Formats: sequence, C-alpha cells, structure tokens
Amino acid sequence: MKAKILDGKKTAQDIRNEIKAEVDQLRSRGLRPPHLVAILVGDNPASHTYVRGKMRACAEVGFDSTNKHLPASTTEQELLGWVKTYNEDPLVDGILVQMPLPEHIVPQNITKTIVPHKDADGFHPLNVGLMTLNFPGILSATPAGIMELIDRYEIPTKGKHVVIAGRSRIVGRPISILMSRGGQPGEATVTICHRYTPPELLKQMCLQADIVIVAVGKPGLITADMIKEDAVVIDVGINRIEAPEKKSGYRLVGDVDFDAVAEKASYITPVPGGVGPMTVAMLLSNTLHSYKRSHG
Ligand code: GUN
Repeated sequence: MKAKILDGKKTAQDIRNEIKAEVDQLRSRGLRPPHLVAILVGDNPASHTYVRGKMRACAEVGFDSTNKHLPASTTEQELLGWVKTYNEDPLVDGILVQMPLPEHIVPQNITKTIVPHKDADGFHPLNVGLMTLNFPGILSATPAGIMELIDRYEIPTKGKHVVIAGRSRIVGRPISILMSRGGQPGEATVTICHRYTPPELLKQMCLQADIVIVAVGKPGLITADMIKEDAVVIDVGINRIEAPEKKSGYRLVGDVDFDAVAEKASYITPVPGGVGPMTVAMLLSNTLHSYKRSHG
C-alpha cells in the first residue's frame, strides 16, 4: 500500500489523554468534572453503539455522563422537555441528541432548542453562524475532528483544491466552511458535490482535487479512477454491510474503495478508525470548552 494512514484512532487517543490530564487537574483542585448528557430516542442499533462509545469515552477521560434513553414513541414536545431540563441544569455542560431521530420529530426543532453554549455536537444555528464568520464558538464535531486530524498530520491546505462529496448539515456543509475560511487548516478552494451532481462531474471534480472528503453513505462511491495521484482522501462514510463470517453479522466500510484508492493516495483515513473516533474526541473537547466557559 502506498498511502500513509491518517490514524484517527491513535490521534483521538492522544486528544483523550490531553483532556484527561486537564480533568485530573480540575479534580485535584476540588472541582467537579465536566458532564455530558447524551439523549437517544428509539432503538436504532447503530445509534446505540455510537452512544455507548461516547459514554465510554467520557468515562475514560473522567467526565460525568448521562445516557438518557427514551422510547421511539416519545413526542417532540416530550423530547424538547428533556432538552430544556438539561439546558437549565447547572451540573450539565454538554448535551447531544443522537441522530437520526424517529420520523415524527423534526431534528432542526431539537437542534435549535439546545442552549448554544451546551451544544456538544456544534449543530446549533448560532454556532454554525459563528463558525461561518470566523468567530470563536463551538465547532461541529465531525468537521472539527477532520480539521484536527489534518492539522496534526501537518497536511497543507492553503491554496489547495478540496472537493467534498455530500452537503449535509453535520459534515459536508460545515467542513466546506472550515476549509475555505482563514487559518491553518483552511484557505482552500472548495467544491461541494451532492446528490444532484452528475456522476461524470463528480469524477471530474475529484480528479482535480488535492484533498477529497466524502460524507455520503454509499459504499464504493469513490473509486481509484476518480483520485489524482498523491491526493489526500478523507472518508467520513460509515456503512454496515453484511458479513456472515463476523459474529455481529456485519462489518463497517466507508464510501471509498479503500484498497484500490490507497494505492494512489498519499494519505487516507481507514473505516473504522479514521474520522469516527475523532468525532467523539471533539465532542469531549467541546464539552470541556463549555465547562471552562461556565467556570470562568
Ligand atoms: N448521527 C450521526 N453522526 C452524528 C453526530 O455527530 N452527532 C449526533 N448527535 N448524531 C449523529
């Protein structure tokens, strides 16, 4: 394999160690640790796995955590009630509501109700606005994780062409802003492709890209013939595909044809072990940031 691995698992561990050192300091000064609340509605198995991972990460760094599991029949009003309870609780620093939500709940209504300074995911319109205008604030966790990974591997972005596949509120759109705004990483020329980009145009764009970021949710979307020699490839896709030989019955793959693309790229993120653990690390980082803000 030619490409070097952008090791999100290891980098996220480094970040968790840094956060733990800060939490140990707080405890040694007699202060309470930061507290993250995760609200999970319904029984999506992948969501359960993600929330368990987030709670495990909290325990590892010494955060308090609450895993609030609500039934799939929970109404939007009831969920908003829980969000408001945690908004007002001075012992809660970060709140996240795991997506996707059941169809009868409008996710934007929930996102905009979390008080912006406890918005651990960085999805609130105020935080996205602050990010867009380059004010300090809470960054969307997955895009922040990608930026952190690129920064720690010292991958240059200034003047580079970044092509993003996917325009979601939680990955594609915010990473396009972070990559194009000032600072390092940043200062890039950005192209966003999405569901209405004809496949031939997506290929043309990717072939011109120095950095390709894919967050679509389609295994095998990005193939080696779409990637320029020595490009950097960041795969945000997490897809469960059937694998009868595995105990769980499935395995995880991204949106990139990893083996073939790794023969052309200079750097590539694996799935799992790439962007996923970075998202969780940034969630902790956002919660610590909120805690520090409320503790002066
Ligand atoms: N579902 C998929 N990704 C995310 C995420 O980053 N945060 C939350 N809350 N839900 C998600």
